[in-house]
Amino acid sequence: MAILVTGGAGYIGSHTVMELLENRDEVVVVDNLVKGHKNAIKGGKFYCGDIRDEDFLDRVFKESEIEAVIHFAAYSLVGESMKDPIGYYNNNVRGTITLLRFMKKHGVKNIVFSSTAAVYGEAKNVPITEDDDTCPENPYGESKLAIEKLLKWASDSLDINYIALRYFNAAGAHESGVIGEDHDPETHLIPIVLETALGRREKIIIFGDDYNTPDGTCIRDYIHVMDLAQAHLLALDKLKKDGESGIYNLGNGKGFSVKEVIEKSKEVTGRDIPVEIGNRRKGDPHILVASSEKAKKELQWKPKYNSLEKIIEDAWKWHSNTH
Ligand code: UFG
Repeated sequence: MAILVTGGAGYIGSHTVMELLENRDEVVVVDNLVKGHKNAIKGGKFYCGDIRDEDFLDRVFKESEIEAVIHFAAYSLVGESMKDPIGYYNNNVRGTITLLRFMKKHGVKNIVFSSTAAVYGEAKNVPITEDDDTCPENPYGESKLAIEKLLKWASDSLDINYIALRYFNAAGAHESGVIGEDHDPETHLIPIVLETALGRREKIIIFGDDYNTPDGTCIRDYIHVMDLAQAHLLALDKLKKDGESGIYNLGNGKGFSVKEVIEKSKEVTGRDIPVEIGNRRKGDPHILVASSEKAKKELQWKPKYNSLEKIIEDAWKWHSNTH
């Protein structure tokens, strides 16, 4: 029996595939390679195709005995989603609808869903718990929330069990340095800061320093990608064991401002990182920090790499050597 990983060639997907392989699980990866990279898939059976393609997806389910699904395949950029809301709904929501239909057809009950802190929008509480209000400020977060709601109804009436994992800011890379964060175009803070340290970019533009935070720049909760990967395996175990659906935050519970990330990156890399203050980016909440107590308690999640320094060190290993 295999685990189907949609979007397994993407950033968090490929690191989770690595963790599954290290755990000796049988893995089937589906990815249309629009954003993902084939060389990031380090094992398992690979199908190149789009989960919205019904014949393709049907074939994948027919050819392998799938016991559960981890569903990453989606667009995931806040800024891009503001410009292309229809594309985001089409890819993210329609893709999931098709996936659920074929899970149902082939009798696959368990799904771990890649959700996001972007479902909360401008948070009222710090840290944010799963019971806090969801009010996304961008189409990306809205599309993920729509899927969470669909999963809830599917679990109520269609005998589908789900765990939605709301990631805060995924960062870092596999410790080996063989895979890492590789988006094109790159919009995420840590890779851009490190590319600037390497001289591949002239400077990093800070998107606004007039937010209501101590240094005026936005605060985020950076979580190591391998800690996220571990949580997916624990979520699968839980679904297999008790079939109980649920939603979990995944973060470190500690926030760092954009300026703090840049300072820490200077320390880790020993390089100069030129900075310019620019305008705010549309759709950016001023602070996002997680409470992950529920995941720690119910999934027995134990993040191992939880210092910003370690996250930047591993990202640096990937960016400076392999990439
Ligand atoms: N930032 C800059 N300059 C840059 C890039 C980013 O100042 O060149 C700032 C952003 O404005 C933000 C912070 O750095 O304040 C982090 O930005 P990222 O683009 O790295 O990450 P986001 O917080 O926008 O979004 C990420 C994921 C989303 C997820 C969200 C959850 O991309 O999928 O974290 O917290 F929803």
